[in-house]
Amino acid sequence: MTESLRAHALTLLREPEAAAKRAGLRQLRAAPPPSGADQALNQPDTALPGRPARPLLCEHLHLPKRSAHTPEGRAALLHAIAHIEFNAINLALDAIWRFPGLPDAYYLDWLQVADEEALHFELLQQHLRSLGKAYGDFDAHDGLWAMCDRTKHSFRARMALVPRTLEARGLDATPPLQRKLAQAGDTRAVEILDIILRDEIGHVAIGNRWYRWACEQDGVTDMAADFAQLCQQHQAPRPRPPLNLGARALAGFSAQELECLQRQAAPAAPAAPAA
Ligand SMILES: [Fe+2]
Ligand SMILES: [Fe+2]
Repeated sequence: MTESLRAHALTLLREPEAAAKRAGLRQLRAAPPPSGADQALNQPDTALPGRPARPLLCEHLHLPKRSAHTPEGRAALLHAIAHIEFNAINLALDAIWRFPGLPDAYYLDWLQVADEEALHFELLQQHLRSLGKAYGDFDAHDGLWAMCDRTKHSFRARMALVPRTLEARGLDATPPLQRKLAQAGDTRAVEILDIILRDEIGHVAIGNRWYRWACEQDGVTDMAADFAQLCQQHQAPRPRPPLNLGARALAGFSAQELECLQRQAAPAAPAAPAA
């Protein structure tokens, strides 16, 4: 019997190397097997996610500040974005295998996300190499996977807090980051971030679509109250101004939701790059 898409996703999530994840995703994307929506899959969380021995993971606050204006600082900044993309591959693979019983379209949406995240990682890794660095040369933090773990028991919370919150924060963070990199003369990095921003609008749109679907299924009538409650329950980070209102509108946030997000936005602080 052909192995299901969900089973493949779990295998690729356990896989430590990005190149193998990318190759596997390319194959799945070219000819997706049946989703295996109703298949029972079990995996101890201690073995997840697969990742290489480096980068070393440390507390977010222990990471040094990075300036785009020195070659080392720029490489560290690009490394931080590459690490976000590596995590984003794992987040998308987890969204596929973790939640059974969903429509086929859900699994195919997240296959597309995983494949695009793997491309983002590869583009950044190639660029890092051109700067004489490789993925693993700097330390990194584990904030994205931590949110994935906190929302593993709830499909609705996962959609609300990973794509609709964390990836959406990336939409806001990308244009200021592109301005910094442009000032530093790194036109290739700006081009790569253009590709990432374009794709990330799609990822957030997928999150919005499936969060709304989950609300309908669960009989949630006040989505705004539900979203606020999930953010509080799972200690989601607040949006950071300035919000990228154009990109967020393209990703499906309503005018009312954008107003609400703007009210929640914390005072300006250094922003994290896109997923
Ligand atoms: Fe993404
Ligand atoms: Fe990405």
